[in-house]
Amino acid sequence: MNTKIAASLLSADMLHLGDELERVKQAGVDWIHYDVMDGWFVPNLSFGLPELQAISKGTDMFIDVHLMINNPALYIRNFAKSGANLITFHLESLTDPFTTIQTIREYGCQVGISVKPRTPAKALLPFLDDIDVILVMTVEPGFGGQSYMHEMTAKISEIRNMIQGRNIKIEVDGGVDNTTAPEAVSAGADILVSGSYLFKQKEMQRAVEKLRNIK
Ligand code: DX5
Ligand code: ZN
Repeated sequence: MNTKIAASLLSADMLHLGDELERVKQAGVDWIHYDVMDGWFVPNLSFGLPELQAISKGTDMFIDVHLMINNPALYIRNFAKSGANLITFHLESLTDPFTTIQTIREYGCQVGISVKPRTPAKALLPFLDDIDVILVMTVEPGFGGQSYMHEMTAKISEIRNMIQGRNIKIEVDGGVDNTTAPEAVSAGADILVSGSYLFKQKEMQRAVEKLRNIK
């Protein structure tokens, strides 16, 4: 299977978001990656529901919502109704993972769990029967434009082994570019999130093709 590419809108030109959505689609990007921050789970704020509603009306692309917030379960209904296709929450947030998973399913979305760099892969073991995606953070969550933590590559491999025989995809987020993507893919990444690298491209399509064709 070819690697899927998810464009993180954190690095998009907010003043021209409609044009950016069109640019991403023309470039052959597979998913829109929508980073939500609450200033509590991470030391930063990003966007929320009204922006997602506008985006989901403005594109037919698959929307991958990455919740970097505490109490994610409280907001699942609203994110689902605002156009999310996949909702990923953090295992480290203040939440009961099983209830949160169940709530995401109730609203008809795919389910993802994300782990910060210091959370061990084995923390995911209890949830493997119930999730579609594992989002492996390769930077500390909170900001675009950081450098890929090379020590996370072994964790991607460990998760790849752990999920053998299951229908779970591994998504890698943070510092992904043409130089770091090959190690993430060879360790087992199925989906690459890219923000600052993709949006600074003059020819985004070429960059997307390169990332996608990494073996
Ligand atoms: C960081 C976000 C990422 C971020 C990636 O907390 O979850 O999705 O936008 O940006 P780059 O690709 O610039 O590291
Ligand atoms: Zn993200």
